[in-house]
Amino acid sequence: MRILRFLSPVLLIAAVLCSAEEAIQLPKPQMEGGKPLMQALKERKTGREFSPEKLSPQVLGNLLWAAWGVNRPDGHRTAPSAGNRQEIEIYVTTADGAYVYDATNHSLLPVAKEDLRGLTGKQPFVAQAPVNLVYVADFAKMGKSTDENKIFYSAADTGFIAQNVYLFCASEGLAAVVRGMVDREPLAKALKLRPDQRIILSHTVGYPAKK
Ligand SMILES: Cc1cc2nc3c(=O)[nH]c(=O)nc-3n(C[C@H](O)[C@H](O)[C@H](O)COP(=O)(O)O)c2cc1C
Repeated sequence: MRILRFLSPVLLIAAVLCSAEEAIQLPKPQMEGGKPLMQALKERKTGREFSPEKLSPQVLGNLLWAAWGVNRPDGHRTAPSAGNRQEIEIYVTTADGAYVYDATNHSLLPVAKEDLRGLTGKQPFVAQAPVNLVYVADFAKMGKSTDENKIFYSAADTGFIAQNVYLFCASEGLAAVVRGMVDREPLAKALKLRPDQRIILSHTVGYPAKK
């Protein structure tokens, strides 16, 4: 009996640890190279025809770092945010599942095992493109702002991140389309969002379809 009393909390902790999905470490971002800024700006555009080719972990990691990674020792990021609240989270949906980008550790935290790409929008290319990012504002991180300011600032902050993604894609020869046409309710449910987490936009990324 005494051994059972000792073992049960140990077994419980072991069960919790085993069931917790492990974070996926992304390769260290490559901060050298890429096209010069003026050339990337010249080539920045929306593309809606994607090849099904997957992004390698290195390219996906570079994309996420460029979008919203930590670029200074004090934790500041590649995009600005109102009051440095850093309220935007990037959810990443691929054929292998859904994740949230942990910028501090440059890793992906699993959210769902299912392929949720088709839920991120209604346009036909969405389910086939390898990556659909979902920009989610966590209003809980926005302190005592009014609701109007929460919406206003989180939308503006998302815009900076989305432009980083567009410029990275222009530099890397990737196609991208930022999207407001998102059925937010079912997607929020599938991503297990709290009511104070709001989906702002989606962003489809992949290699352009071969002509
Ligand atoms: C806030 C926002 C929402 C958008 N929503 C969609 C969308 O739902 N679907 C889509 O195909 N394109 C969408 N776009 C892309 C625009 O249609 C595109 O940026 C515009 O046609 C200009 O083209 P360009 O990006 O190549 O300059 C959106 C762009 C922005 C900025």
